[in-house]
Order: sequence, then structure tokens, then C-alpha cells
Amino acid sequence: MAKQLHAQWSSRLTFILAVTGSAVGLGNIWKFPYMVGDSGGAAFVLVYLLCIALVGLPILVSEWLIGRRGQKNPINTMTEQARQNGHSPAWGLVGLSGVLAGFLILSFYSVIGGWSLSYTVNSISGTFAGQDADGVGELFNGMLASPGVLLGWHSLFMVLVIGIVARGVTKGLEGAVRTLMPALGILLLVLVVYGLTTGHFGETLAFMFNPDLSAIDGSVILAAMGQAFFTLSLGMGIMMAYGSYLGENVDLLRTARTVVILDTVIALVAGLAIFPIVFANGLDPSEGPGLIFVTLPLAFGNLGGGAFLGLIFFLLLTFAALTSAISLLEPTVEFIEERTPLSRIAATLVSGCAIWALGVAALLSFNVWSDVLILGLSIFDFLDTLTSKFMLPLTGLAAIIFVGWCLERRSVRDELGLGDSGAMVWNLLARFVAPIGVILVFVTSL
Ligand code: PFF
Repeated sequence: MAKQLHAQWSSRLTFILAVTGSAVGLGNIWKFPYMVGDSGGAAFVLVYLLCIALVGLPILVSEWLIGRRGQKNPINTMTEQARQNGHSPAWGLVGLSGVLAGFLILSFYSVIGGWSLSYTVNSISGTFAGQDADGVGELFNGMLASPGVLLGWHSLFMVLVIGIVARGVTKGLEGAVRTLMPALGILLLVLVVYGLTTGHFGETLAFMFNPDLSAIDGSVILAAMGQAFFTLSLGMGIMMAYGSYLGENVDLLRTARTVVILDTVIALVAGLAIFPIVFANGLDPSEGPGLIFVTLPLAFGNLGGGAFLGLIFFLLLTFAALTSAISLLEPTVEFIEERTPLSRIAATLVSGCAIWALGVAALLSFNVWSDVLILGLSIFDFLDTLTSKFMLPLTGLAAIIFVGWCLERRSVRDELGLGDSGAMVWNLLARFVAPIGVILVFVTSL
């Protein structure tokens, strides 16, 4: 069934808003800080920034470029463009792997979206007021230990995602992104200002920006690269799909730069907001996935008007998570809708329920199934590792190899509007630095 995918973005701004809705999410505010804490601070940040600039940015541009040329869903786009350029239609597998990655990521993403919902409600009810570090730790561990509580919030989050995608109103959210994302940014800045008052801001700066180069090893590099893909929503086909709605006149490089800077700044500011609280309260930076949930309530519990600020913060975080989550569900829904007789609503329900069920397994790995290990990892960690560290980079690698090596170089250069020196830098990045970088990371870390 042909879908009417091919309306175009009404402007560059609408496109940026949609892309930002997908890119900015739990990855920036929940995942980035805990990975920094887990992987040794500034060494991780340094490698992460290099991965964003040298690998993430060119792959983002490549995915948009492929999408804009193909004007179809990622699987058909890859297959057809490969054919047109005399290559194997097996390139379509790249699109398929992206769809599958989105499916797997959403299952555990929704569990964390549920935590954010739960903390919204906890803020309103004043649960955090006057708590100390032990108190918030107990609240968080109490939530993790209770499968029923986790299940309830995960289910509610998935219902919201399914509801939005089933009604096909995802584009209607751009207006909301425009106001709510800046609001989230402002609240993060308020938290940074609070961090300045803790007397531990200098320590935070050193922790995040003064790298101990000897701490950089294969596992730090693999983690940083995976995070770069995750945070920019790369290697999922989603950026290819967004690119398929792009008009010829949009400058891909400039737009990518805007999005990448925005996404990176939000992640860094989240780190600057969280670590002063960690150090001021003697918490462990390598606390893991619970990091923002045991630090931010301390700030909100001790700040004038903190209950209100906490409520708004977790609401906005939930919103940011939702706009990313719908972009994770959309590819699976389109895939099922196109290849089965199911209607959009039925396709959304079927995929949403399957993802929900996998999410239940992920949330049980925090409690009753905590000893179920796959390759030594809990179900939650396994899903995260498999997708962020392997599937996304491999799919992204394929996209950039395709643009760098399989498409006609002259036409890519014209499409990106590059002069001689720009073309040289682009070719260096797209043909060598980015692909070899990704491959080297795999080789060294395996
Ligand atoms: N980029 C999102 C975040 O940082 O939270 C997560 C994500 C969304 C990853 C969409 C991949 C994706 F396709």
C-alpha cells in the first residue's frame, strides 16, 4: 500500500523541530550523565565529543542525504538507491536493521520514561521535600524493587506513545517542541545555578573537562561512540525517514550543525546540573541508570519552590522522552502497515504491545529476574548494549559507506554545496575517518 509519505516540511525550522524532538530525550538528560559517571568522567566526554564531530555529524548528513534522494521509507530507499547505483539490493537490510533497533530500544526506553512519569507524580505529592541522600536512594530503590510499580508506569508511558502514533498526530507535536524544549533547557540552567551554590562546581568542571587520558580504553571508546549514535538518533533509519520529507533547498550541513550543537549542549548542561549534586552529597558518580533519579530530587527537595520545579522538570523530561519514543515506534508501525493488511491503528497496537511485552522483561530485570543474564548482562543492559553499542553504529557505518563509496561523488558534492576544500574535508570524513573510526572502535573493543 503506497503511503502518502511525501508531503514536505513546511520550513527548515519545522524540520529542525521534528529532528530535535527525536534527538533530544532521555539520552541527553538521563543517559549521558550516568555514562559520564560510569566511564570515568572527562575521558569519556572527550571521546564522546570527538565521536559526535567526526562520526555523528557526517553520518547524520549521510542519512538525510540518502533519505532525501530516496523519498521513501528507509528499507525501500536503500534498496532502490543501491540498485540505481549498480549495487546489491541487500543494502535494504540496513533499513531493516534500523527498524529492529527502534523496536528494541523503545522497550527499555519506555521503562525509563515510566520512571520519569513516576517522579512527576512524586514531585507533586511532595515526596522529595527535605529528603537527604539516603532518603532519595531508598525511594528510588523501592521503585526498582517493585515490579508492579514499574509495570504501571511503563504501561502508562507506552499507552501515551501508542495513542499519539495511532492517531498519526506526531507532526502536530512540533509546535509543542518549540516551546517545551527551551523550557526544559531553562530548568536545566536553574539546576546549574543551584549547582553553583553547592560549592562543588569546580570539582564538576574538573570531573567533566579535565581528562585523564590514560583512562581512555576500548570500552570507554565503544561506550562513547554508542552514546553518540543514541543521542543523535542515528543508525535507526529515523533520520533517513525524516530526510525523505526534505526539500531540495535545505542546507544539510548547516542544519546538521545546528541540531548537533543543540543536542550536545543539552547533554553537557545536564551533566553540569547533576554532578555538583553528586559531589555535594557524597554520592557515587558511577551509580548507573538511577543517577538523575537520586540526584535531582535532592535539589528539588532543598530548593525554594522545589516541589513545583520538580513537577515541571519531570513533566518536561517526560515530554522530551515521548517525542523521542514516537520516533522510535514510527518505523516499526510503517513497516507493518506497508507489509500487512493491517490498518495504521492495528499496526500501532500490534507493535506497541510487542514492545511493551519486551519492556516488561526489561523492567523485571531490576527485580525478580535480576539473576537472568544474557552474555553476563541483565536483560535491560543487554538490550541497551546490543542496540547502542552494536546495531546503531553498524547501521550508521553502512549508511556512511554507502554515501562515501557507492554514490557518485560529484553529485554528493553538489548536493552538499561544497567547494574544493569543503569537498576534500567531506571526502576525508565520509570515506575514511568516520568509517575507519567505527571499524577501529569495534576491532579494538572486541
Ligand atoms: N535520541 C534519543 C535520546 O537521546 O533520548 C533516543 C533515540 C530516539 C534513539 C530515536 C534512537 C532513535 F531513533
